[in-house]
Amino acid sequence: MSMKEARLRNDVFLPVIGAGLWKITDRQLMVEVVKNAWQCGYRLFDTASAYSNELALGKAVSELGLPREQIIIQDKLWTTCYGYENAQAACRHSLKKLKTDYLDVYLMHWPAPSKLYDNWEEINAETWRGMEQLYKEGYVRAIGVCNFKISHLEALGKTAAVHPLINQIECHPGMPNKEITEYCRKKEIRIQASSPLGNGQILNNAELLRIAAESGVTAAQLCLKWSLEHGYIILPKTTSPERMRENFCSWQLNLDKDIMHLLDNLPFCGGLAIDSDEVNKFDEL
Ligand code: A2P
Repeated sequence: MSMKEARLRNDVFLPVIGAGLWKITDRQLMVEVVKNAWQCGYRLFDTASAYSNELALGKAVSELGLPREQIIIQDKLWTTCYGYENAQAACRHSLKKLKTDYLDVYLMHWPAPSKLYDNWEEINAETWRGMEQLYKEGYVRAIGVCNFKISHLEALGKTAAVHPLINQIECHPGMPNKEITEYCRKKEIRIQASSPLGNGQILNNAELLRIAAESGVTAAQLCLKWSLEHGYIILPKTTSPERMRENFCSWQLNLDKDIMHLLDNLPFCGGLAIDSDEVNKFDEL
C-alpha cells in the first residue's frame, strides 16, 4: 500500500512519513540508508545544509539511480546564509551539492534568535523574501520554516507575500507544543515533527512502554502514530533497516481516543527542547 500523503496549502502533497537524515554524514552509510529507506517505501528525504550531508545525499540518489520525480528532497537554509541574496545563493549551492535543479521543500532552518539580534525581525523578513523569490522562480516547490515560535510567525506575517507552508518543530508525546501547533493549524501551516521520537530519549519511558505493550505496538510506533493522528508529517531518523520498517508501519496502526488522551497529557520525559530564541548553534546539539 502506498504511503498516505499530506496536502500543503499550495496543493503540493508530501508523504506523511519521511526519512530524517540528521547526523548521517558518512557517504557510504548514506547510500545504505537511502537504499534501505527507498526499498521500504520512504520517498521523502530530509536533509539540511547544517547537517553537512547534502553531498552525501546527492551522491546516494544518483548512485542508486532513484527517479528524481519520485522522491521528495527537503533541504534547509542555515543561519550563516541569512539575507535576501544570501538565501538564494545558498539554495543554488545546495542544489549543486544535491545534483538536482529543484527542491521539493526548502525551509528556513532557524529564526534569528531575538536574544542574539536586536533586528531579528528584519533578518527573518529579508531571508524570507529570498525564500519567496526561490519559490517564485521555481527552484523550490514549497517553502517553510523550522523552529519558529508564534512570535516569529507573527512577525514574518507582517511582510510575507507567501506565508510559510510548513513549520518543522520538535514534537512528540511529552512535548506536544500545544500553542504553536494550534496556531499553525489555524493558519494552515503544516507541522512537521522533527525528533518525533524525542531524539530517541523518550523510548524508555515507563508510561510509554506500558501503553505501547497494552496496545500491541512498540514505543516508537506509539509516538509516531500519535504525531500522525494529529496530522503532522513525521521525520524519524534511523540507520537500522529493521527500525525503518517498524517506523514506516506506524501509519497503518490504530490508536483509540483514550490512548491519544493519555499521550496528549504525558508529562515531559525527554527530547531536545531547545528555545530557538536563545541559541543558533546547532552543531552543539
Ligand atoms: P538509530 O539511528 O541507532 O536507529 P528522532 O527521530 O526523534 O531524532 O530519534 C532518533 C533516535 O531514535 C536515533 O538515536 C535512532 O537510533 C533512534 N530510533 C529510531 N527509530 C527507532 C526505533 N524504532 N526504536 C528505537 N530507537 C529508534
